[in-house]
Amino acid sequence: MAGVVFEKVAKRYGEVSIIEGLNLDIQDKEFMVLVGPSGCGKSTALRMIAGLEEISDGHVKIGERVVNEVAPKDRDIAMVFQSYALYPHMTIRENLEFGLKIRKTPQAEVDRLVKEAAEILGISHLLDRKPKQLSGGQRQRVAVGRAIVRKPAVFLFDEPLSNLDAKLRVQMRAEITKLQQRLQTTTVYVTHDQVEAMTMGHRIAVMKDGKLQQVGTPLEVYEQPSNLFVAAFIGTPPMNFVKAQIRNEGTLIAAAKFALPVPVKLRHLTVPRDGANVVVGIRPENIVDPSKPTRGETAMIQAKVDIAEPLGHEVLVYASIGDDTLVAKVDPHRAPQLDSIVDLVVELESLHLFDAATERRLA
Ligand SMILES: Nc1ncnc2c1ncn2[C@@H]1O[C@H](COP(=O)(O)OP(=O)(O)OP(=O)(O)O)[C@@H](O)[C@H]1O
Ligand SMILES: [Mg+2]
Repeated sequence: MAGVVFEKVAKRYGEVSIIEGLNLDIQDKEFMVLVGPSGCGKSTALRMIAGLEEISDGHVKIGERVVNEVAPKDRDIAMVFQSYALYPHMTIRENLEFGLKIRKTPQAEVDRLVKEAAEILGISHLLDRKPKQLSGGQRQRVAVGRAIVRKPAVFLFDEPLSNLDAKLRVQMRAEITKLQQRLQTTTVYVTHDQVEAMTMGHRIAVMKDGKLQQVGTPLEVYEQPSNLFVAAFIGTPPMNFVKAQIRNEGTLIAAAKFALPVPVKLRHLTVPRDGANVVVGIRPENIVDPSKPTRGETAMIQAKVDIAEPLGHEVLVYASIGDDTLVAKVDPHRAPQLDSIVDLVVELESLHLFDAATERRLA
């Protein structure tokens, strides 16, 4: 068992910088998710752990060992790819055995490990088939099986569920989470899907343009996003943002066409910043209709309904106040008429305040 450490890691292709100054400490037994939009460098970071990409600067450690110069096969890792990468001409059993045989594992041990992995993953009845005779979900299970028979120190997953349909993705997500709990193997999991990140990771590391934005538990990142990018990336529907100014000696947040009182809990942020330009973030789940129970201090605002999207258990209402649009979550039995004026209740203690210039969370 081993943790994984990035120390000031950079990746450059000639003049082009892909990752700069990456510091990340992944604990032994931890499930760490690297999440961010396409092209932000997630796969590159993962591939540097695997030894599939050279490290331009800094160090990557697995356990106590710096692995920059260690060959992939000697790093004690196993990687699962989006594409499954199974050998098409081999049976499932042969696919599972392959890595073990290369390492000259005795046959009795190979048989035992393959049997155990197949049982854990529920693929024992498929061992004599070829990959093309399996469904996508079954193939992905085999790909995971090939990783677990090796009993590596670290699992690396690169978007392993992207090729599956929505329902199977949710099911496999839970299976991988359970498997990691059972095996307690340090895991680094790459995805661009913030829901996967939130549901699977012990901690998540949010990346943008090759730079780490924030590392924390899912709840920390959701409740205390460190900047506008993270705030917008985590949560569905995304957080509402409104430009505003702090006024009245730090007791009022004044937007173009409405104002919100600063709740007592947030005054320590606003009182020293009277006159500052800020961006207020309000999650849709913190704007509700007056029928719903609320938490802490609240304020009522009136807005015009532009769109209402019924989702069954709730309705998403897109409402405008001048040029500002807010998305609110409303009781499905109180869905408002289009173009009507609605009262919306804002939970003030859940507001997020960001510096308008630096885009960083006020602290
Ligand atoms: N061999 C290469 N030469 C130059 N640039 C590269 C090379 N490989 C990748 N890149 C660039 O590095 C950046 C990061 O790529 P990477 O594959 O790590 O992104 P990602 O976050 O995994 O994205 P995705 O979600 O699309 O898989 C991208 O801008 C990509 O174009
Ligand atoms: Mg990728």
